[in-house]
Amino acid sequence: MKAFIFDLDGIIVDTAKYHFKSWKIISKSFGFELSKNQNELLKGVSREESLDRILSWGGISIDKFEKKKYLEKKNELYKDFINNLSQMDILPGVKKLIDFAAIKGIPIALGSASKNAHQILKKLGIKSKFKVIIDGNLTSKSKPHPEVFLKGAQMLGVNPKKVIVFEDSIAGVEAANKAKMVSVAICGSGKIENARFNFNSLDDIPLEFFENVI
Ligand code: BG6
Ligand code: MG
Repeated sequence: MKAFIFDLDGIIVDTAKYHFKSWKIISKSFGFELSKNQNELLKGVSREESLDRILSWGGISIDKFEKKKYLEKKNELYKDFINNLSQMDILPGVKKLIDFAAIKGIPIALGSASKNAHQILKKLGIKSKFKVIIDGNLTSKSKPHPEVFLKGAQMLGVNPKKVIVFEDSIAGVEAANKAKMVSVAICGSGKIENARFNFNSLDDIPLEFFENVI
């Protein structure tokens, strides 16, 4: 049996831009400008690991109490940005794939580093479509570690080799590859080198693709 595992931020909804905006504000308060290229290296990575990377790029060292303060601040900023998310924000192609999976009996899971995943799916009105939700609260190792996807496959009861993962991040593609799953990168006009397949958008994937890919 085949299965789909969807990343959340940047795949189901364009929240990646809000993570970027929030981290930019935090980085500014450390006295430096977070670049787009640096942000690519934060995609798919947990909140804690993201802060550690930013601190190391800025050459800044703070204690764990300060870290906790900045993590909370970042999440407050982020939650303000996503406050008004609704069905309208679901990215093109998501509903088509969910419907296709339902017709074909393909179970779907969410595999995200976010601790806000349940809340976001509820705002989008599609939480019930996911048989399994693996989020940042259920994992201890950040992507590129494959834990999040392997847990998803295990909870769905499918062989990892039969899982197609939709990802927009370098770390996420690496995690899917490590889990021996089929990595499908969705990153607009860009490309993720290590992905098995690249598409501009989920909407660009012809449905026949899924018949032949595994
Ligand atoms: C991932 C995002 O999905 O979730 C990362 O790509 C983010 O940018 C991570 O840091 C954790 O999200 P949250 O919502 O728990 O801060
Ligand atoms: Mg993502």
